[in-house]
Amino acid sequence: MSYRYTDAKEAFIDEVKTGEYIELEGSRRAFRQLEHSLGKSTKMVLIYGKPGTGKTLLLHRLYEKKRGEVEIHLLDIPSGTRREFYRKLFRIFTGKDLPPKTKVDFETFVAFARRIKGKREIVVLLDEAQMYPKEMLEEIRVLSDTGSIKFIITLHKTEDEDLVAKQHFQSRIWETIELRDATPLELNAYIHKRLLQHGHNELASLFRDRQIKLIHRWTGGNFRECNKLLYTLFEIYEYYDQHDPQKIDYNKISIKYLEMAAIKIGFIHV
Ligand SMILES: Nc1ncnc2c1ncn2[C@@H]1O[C@H](COP(=O)(O)OP(=O)(O)OP(=O)(O)O)[C@@H](O)[C@H]1O
Ligand SMILES: [Mg+2]
Repeated sequence: MSYRYTDAKEAFIDEVKTGEYIELEGSRRAFRQLEHSLGKSTKMVLIYGKPGTGKTLLLHRLYEKKRGEVEIHLLDIPSGTRREFYRKLFRIFTGKDLPPKTKVDFETFVAFARRIKGKREIVVLLDEAQMYPKEMLEEIRVLSDTGSIKFIITLHKTEDEDLVAKQHFQSRIWETIELRDATPLELNAYIHKRLLQHGHNELASLFRDRQIKLIHRWTGGNFRECNKLLYTLFEIYEYYDQHDPQKIDYNKISIKYLEMAAIKIGFIHV
């Protein structure tokens, strides 16, 4: 039987897989807003939210859905240097590699962007914008202002970065989309659908209001925290299943094991 807990556990490995995207109210709303802004002349879109709220997944999903329709590029790994970033951009613009030893001249990029205006509209998805220095974000904004490149960037917002995000981005009349932690209803749907995706209909049906309420209380509805908790929960189940199966009540999700998992990750303290 243990394979089923092993597999259920693996359903909650924290990975970004577009094939496992789950439609939830919040994610659907954000996606619609993104689709809508693709059609508008808004130059930059900022997706922001706390770590683990699904920004990267949303960006990947948008890429998957739109790549056949519009000229869209995904820069999911932040460039380590300014030069690397412009190499990538050069490739996007021209389809060629920037010749070695060529100096990156920002003005040339701007001139290029102006030249293609009306002929091409390029969408660049940029994940983890908090990794870029302010000066580069400013250059990205200038490039966006040409109207031929639309940057859609994600920024993860922690409590103190919030201020930076607000000042630097929201004051610039960019379109902003905020991703939030899940409501209990969304978290319920998330857990059920995640288990169903992996064929665990029976296990899914064992997550009732009581369990969801606790999971929501401990994780605040954060998807990443929820993944951690459920991964650990099924790890505990896996252990007892192998070593002491009499301890397991297969007809419900044990609150005790949930608490053990929460203690193990440090969500609650004894
Ligand atoms: N709508 C959704 N459907 C399925 N899985 C989701 C959804 N939203 C979030 N997740 C899952 O939650 C986890 C965190 O998502 P993601 O990595 O996209 O967060 P993030 O906001 O980019 O975090 P960070 O700020 O740390 O980069 C991932 O495992 C992701 O697959
Ligand atoms: Mg991310």
